[in-house]
Amino acid sequence: MEQTFIMIKPDGVQRGLIGEIIGRFEKKGFTLKGLKFINVDRPFAEKHYADLSAKPFFSSLVDYIISGPVVAMVWEGKNVVATGRKIIGATNPAQSEPGTIRGDFAIDIGRNVIHGSDAVESARKEIALWFPEGITEWQKTVHPWIYE
Ligand code: TYD
Repeated sequence: MEQTFIMIKPDGVQRGLIGEIIGRFEKKGFTLKGLKFINVDRPFAEKHYADLSAKPFFSSLVDYIISGPVVAMVWEGKNVVATGRKIIGATNPAQSEPGTIRGDFAIDIGRNVIHGSDAVESARKEIALWFPEGITEWQKTVHPWIYE
């Protein structure tokens, strides 16, 4: 089954949105497979955002990600990468639809609360980076009530 990497950024943690965000993924029916509450250092944040290293906002993005603890998660389910991005909403909260996490809880692009992998391949890389120890193996027993 497909997996994605989701991170609640330091602003989401500081603003008390952890439960709200986890609840949205849980209530959708996706399965939580990995969860940790951690501070990351600059080299690690730079590695996570390596694809954006040439962008003008790169250093402020890295400063923001290392400014406080984050919640790193692995979520599993059918089409979870694309559906997770829909639940999160557009990168710039000014364009995120109401009902999405960014649409409901964010205003500025540089404080957009949450990260979600943008493709199955980047999810695989990000899960390997953030969870080198591996993730919890378990299966929900409610699957027949979620999937046809
Ligand atoms: P990106 O990977 O393009 O977006 P997403 O998080 O939706 O996959 O960019 C990573 C983060 O960089 C984004 O969540 C917020 C920040 N960012 C800026 O601060 N300014 C910008 O102009 C862009 C495009 C992104």
